Amino acid sequence: MSKSDAVFSPDNSLKPPELSVFDAAARVQLRLFSQDDLNAILDIQNASRAMAAWRGRDYEQLAADPRGMILVAESEARMLPEIVGFLATYRIDRESELWNIAVEPRHRRKGVARALLREACRRLSESGVHRLFLEVRESNLPAVELYRAFGFALLGRRKDYYLNPKEDALVLVHRLVQPGP
Ligand SMILES: CC(C)(COP(=O)(O)OP(=O)(O)OC[C@H]1O[C@@H](n2cnc3c(N)ncnc32)[C@H](O)[C@@H]1OP(=O)(O)O)[C@@H](O)C(=O)NCCC(=O)NCCS
Repeated sequence: MSKSDAVFSPDNSLKPPELSVFDAAARVQLRLFSQDDLNAILDIQNASRAMAAWRGRDYEQLAADPRGMILVAESEARMLPEIVGFLATYRIDRESELWNIAVEPRHRRKGVARALLREACRRLSESGVHRLFLEVRESNLPAVELYRAFGFALLGRRKDYYLNPKEDALVLVHRLVQPGP
């Protein structure tokens, strides 16, 4: 069996055929991205200067890639469901990288990012991923504090990793709890 077969076998797919999960603390539904969510997540991205600016096609390609996972958080508070946050990960063998995470500005500090991370870690761990890595601007205090509070550990620093403005990246890692037998 080739390495890629091992990664993409149905047993460890990142995309189990389950519906959304309700997070009672943040009062959001968490589910996989669908095409109808694209404009909402682009709006959230564009309202968040600190994050990577992706094009719509980048999200579509990641969602279609067996190694990619995009989760969205949908608010239950209104009659019409509203996407209030999302995250994107990319898997390489037993490791994944957090590529993007953002919450709509009016919905911040309500636990939405924590809920997205929790659900992503659950899915990744169930699919056999052991560690989740990320890079973050050192000056992005909300994000650094989110990751610290969630249990990420500092692995190192990449000098001048970011441009405009130039800045070091902190490299963080989170060890995922493996599901029991
Ligand atoms: C970083 C971000 C995703 C956090 O989303 P959020 O939904 O507001 O975060 P949560 O409410 O889940 O916060 C969980 C914990 O993170 C920490 N935290 C989050 N925002 C914080 C802030 N502005 N200041 C200090 N700590 C913060 C706190 O420990 C918080 O727990 P508490 O509210 O019980 O104190 C959000 O600020 C955002 O979208 N920023 C712009 C995009 C971005 O920078 N993405 C990260 C790229 S690496």
